[in-house]
Amino acid sequence: MSNPAFSLIGGGTMAEALVKGLIGHNVYLPAEILVSDPLTARRDYLAAAYSVRTTPHNRDCLAAGTVLFAVKPAQLPEVLAEVGPAWPAGSLAISIVAGAKMASFCQYFPNGEPPLVRTMPNTCCTVGMGITAIACNEQVEDFQRERAQRIFESVGEVIDLAEHYFDAVTGLSGSGPAYITLIIEALVEAGVQQGLPRRISRELVCQTVAGAALLVKSSGKHPAELKDQVVTPAGTTASGLQVLEEAAVRATLCLAVKAATLRSRELGQETKR
Ligand SMILES: NC(=O)c1ccc[n+]([C@@H]2O[C@H](COP(=O)([O-])OP(=O)(O)OC[C@H]3O[C@@H](n4cnc5c(N)ncnc54)[C@H](OP(=O)(O)O)[C@@H]3O)[C@@H](O)[C@H]2O)c1
Repeated sequence: MSNPAFSLIGGGTMAEALVKGLIGHNVYLPAEILVSDPLTARRDYLAAAYSVRTTPHNRDCLAAGTVLFAVKPAQLPEVLAEVGPAWPAGSLAISIVAGAKMASFCQYFPNGEPPLVRTMPNTCCTVGMGITAIACNEQVEDFQRERAQRIFESVGEVIDLAEHYFDAVTGLSGSGPAYITLIIEALVEAGVQQGLPRRISRELVCQTVAGAALLVKSSGKHPAELKDQVVTPAGTTASGLQVLEEAAVRATLCLAVKAATLRSRELGQETKR
């Protein structure tokens, strides 16, 4: 059997989202993808659902020219200690592991730093609407950066960013889907409290959140300008917004992003050898 072109170490949620996007966008054929995961049931599921190749041995993944690390932060040191010493020169490493700095990652490669693309995607990748920040070390060649970009474009949008922004990205767009789903949950409940059937409330809220995001993005206008357009003096929206301002929703969101950013920084320390 020929070598895989692309492999993933860790076959969890994010790995599955990428496999689905890559195959759906014809970036790789199923037979070109190899996934390693310790759980037999998980491997069997991925093989059956996407026709990809699977293995329980992480080192098998090194036969591909591009290897993506999709394990949890706590699992990364063990995985790197296993594959780092056997890394083929010039193979591209891509990491989606939250908090894992490039300098810490590269310490596990005794034969020299690999070309490394550090990324921070988010869970919206599972529905093809993700946003992924990518940063490259000096070893990454242009064609490898473009390869990484194509991989993440199969599950959403891609943005090039210097690594020093990554903790903030983690706290904002990495954790952001959880903030927004909490807000959606609260708004659905609010609609129910005002007498709307739950199904209708959910539909109204989801489309309002999706539509508001698209409005901000496509108009290019400042969000405050778009907000002002729907605030009639002494009207309904003005009454609602007053309550949100009195409850310090803006300041609370800033504190949430700050806390998540700091936690990402802490996790980065824990990944160090
Ligand atoms: N989910 C997100 O929204 C999101 C967003 C941005 C970044 N990330 C990052 O993406 C990474 C993966 O997240 P996830 O949500 O996909 O996690 P996940 O679903 O837990 O996937 C991790 C997978 O790796 C497997 N694994 C554990 N130890 C391993 C080993 N030694 N060798 C190979 N595979 C191993 C796990 O198997 P077991 O289940 O048997 O342990 C699991 O299938 C994390 O580092 C996270 O920080 C996630």
